[in-house]
Amino acid sequence: MLKLLISVALATVARCQNQSNPNTFTNPILEAGGADPWVIRHDGWYYLAQSTNDAITLSRSKILTNWNTAESRILFAPPPGFNYSTDIWAPELHSINDAWYIIFTADPRNDSPPPEVEMWCEYNCPAVHHRMYVLEGHGTSPWTTNFTYKSQLDTYDQFAIDGTYFQYKTGLYHIYSCWFRKYDGWPANLCITRLENPWTVASPFSERQIISVPTLPWEKTPYGRASNDRLSSNEAPQQLTNTVTGQEFIVFSAARSDNRNYCLALLELVGTDPMNPADWRKHQYPVFYQNPAEEVYGVGHASFVKSSDGSEDWIVYHGMRDPTNGWSARTIRTQRFTWNEDGTPNFPKPGYGPYPIPSGQ
Ligand SMILES: *[C@@H]1O[C@H](CO)[C@@H](O)[C@H](O)[C@H]1NC(C)=O
Ligand SMILES: *[C@@H]1O[C@H](CO)[C@@H](O)[C@H](O)[C@H]1NC(C)=O
Ligand SMILES: *[C@@H]1O[C@H](CO)[C@@H](O)[C@H](O)[C@H]1NC(C)=O
Repeated sequence: MLKLLISVALATVARCQNQSNPNTFTNPILEAGGADPWVIRHDGWYYLAQSTNDAITLSRSKILTNWNTAESRILFAPPPGFNYSTDIWAPELHSINDAWYIIFTADPRNDSPPPEVEMWCEYNCPAVHHRMYVLEGHGTSPWTTNFTYKSQLDTYDQFAIDGTYFQYKTGLYHIYSCWFRKYDGWPANLCITRLENPWTVASPFSERQIISVPTLPWEKTPYGRASNDRLSSNEAPQQLTNTVTGQEFIVFSAARSDNRNYCLALLELVGTDPMNPADWRKHQYPVFYQNPAEEVYGVGHASFVKSSDGSEDWIVYHGMRDPTNGWSARTIRTQRFTWNEDGTPNFPKPGYGPYPIPSGQ
């Protein structure tokens, strides 16, 4: 039994960390629990925040390109009965003002709306009680920090998932996936509100702005759907800064996460006020999308980190080899990306490699 376990482990290592060429790696970099990867680098470690539906875990690894044997610990496992006890999704770890924050999505009782809630919805609306929540911790390293529940992030008692922080010279903002009204179901848009601090929303509902709506054919599900917006989504927003030009982007996921067309899209802050929808420009085509020639589908929900020597930019994302299996087919992958002449990110075609390992690894 033990022998078997060891040989399975060795096979996994050999697959991901190519023994015949230690300067290359292959995707995926993590086979299990492969959704919504969120990675940051701190003090020589890469940290990966993940959810298991009823808990948030943190893993750490010295290298970006293999997580199959990384150490993990549970950061937060709420007791049953709270509004944030189930369907814990998309945790992100941020360092803001010398404290650590985990921002995450959750809902009560696996969000099964009772008939007298569901009757108000335009379509079926299994996510009607999803909201955003924040944990806080104080410590130099997230590995040794104890996290405690801090607050719900106010979304006016409306659907909210995949929230992130957007930091800009005018302040701190919450950008998240939202509906126009409480019982819409779809489309899922991107909303923005001002924050007073990482756990307190400063905007009243009248100030909440919608900065992206899935209107282009590739944002619809299925592709180009004309008659209604069911399943069409904008979600998983992430801030990406071009540190050379100062350009600010939101990279978000469009279409539908259990589907082959899931892809990454780009919003660029072309004005100076993130709260003004006219100051955001959406690029007309997705910037990272399926690559059927290499059996890569449904690529999305990305985060961004540097190589260990800080010289290269890397995207961490999930994708599927078999798109007919939906959510369960997702695994975590990483690839290097560069920048275009106009300052926008230049993402590669998604694939399995082998690719050169990150610089300095
Ligand atoms: C290992 O690396 C070699 C040389 O780069 C390559 O030809 C081979 O396909 C790689 N194997 C795997 C499993 O990635
Ligand atoms: C739990 O969620 C419901 C529905 O959104 C809300 O009415 C209620 O106030 C929430 N409970 C707490 C303790 O926040
Ligand atoms: C975290 O909590 C444990 C158990 O309560 C305690 O022993 C430890 O000192 C705490 N760590 C920090 C960094 O506060």
